[in-house]
Amino acid sequence: MPATPEPRPRRLHSPVDCSVVKCVALTFDDGPGPYTGRLLDELRAADVRATFFLLGQNVAGHRRLVRRMVREKHEVGNHSWSHPDLTTLPSGEVRAQVLRTQRAVEEAAGVAPVLFRPPYGAIDARVARTVGMPMILWSVDSLDWLHRDVRRNIVVGVRRPRSGGIVLFHDIHRPSVAAVPTILEGLKRRGFTFVTVSELFEGRRLAPGRRYAER
Ligand code: NI
Repeated sequence: MPATPEPRPRRLHSPVDCSVVKCVALTFDDGPGPYTGRLLDELRAADVRATFFLLGQNVAGHRRLVRRMVREKHEVGNHSWSHPDLTTLPSGEVRAQVLRTQRAVEEAAGVAPVLFRPPYGAIDARVARTVGMPMILWSVDSLDWLHRDVRRNIVVGVRRPRSGGIVLFHDIHRPSVAAVPTILEGLKRRGFTFVTVSELFEGRRLAPGRRYAER
């Protein structure tokens, strides 16, 4: 939390002010994959916006889904090309992981990501500098990839988020997507408004290379 309030420029396109209302940003990593279309259907049915941190290598086979994400007002972020631990790679390869993905997303959907999520959350100062985008981590780790359990995903997804939180799920796992409708209902009951990560931080400038895990 910043010690002093920063000036908050107003933008007309977002009606949500997360300094006033209780916001949560749901994020889905590692896709697109076989369950992403179903997830988009569920999000649309519930009128909820989310953020997808895409792997560049998965974009080419799912260009229509990436276009649909953008069309339906979700945010698309960069999660590297092939999910390596970037701290183990030479800087040239780190850059290639980022830029290839930027190009793939832009080519598929006409917009380039402005946010980066490092695979495994693995960052050091060199990687942060080399990537040169804001590093978006999370305040709730669902561990959905580990447990692959719908009921557990629901309990964690409904109970753990706090106002301004960023919740990590993976749309490449069926039990994660299957849990989403009930999670959305539960969070709505708790009074949450769903926003993209950029909307969550609207009015604040996100610095390249800095880490953000919640509002
Ligand atoms: Ni990942």
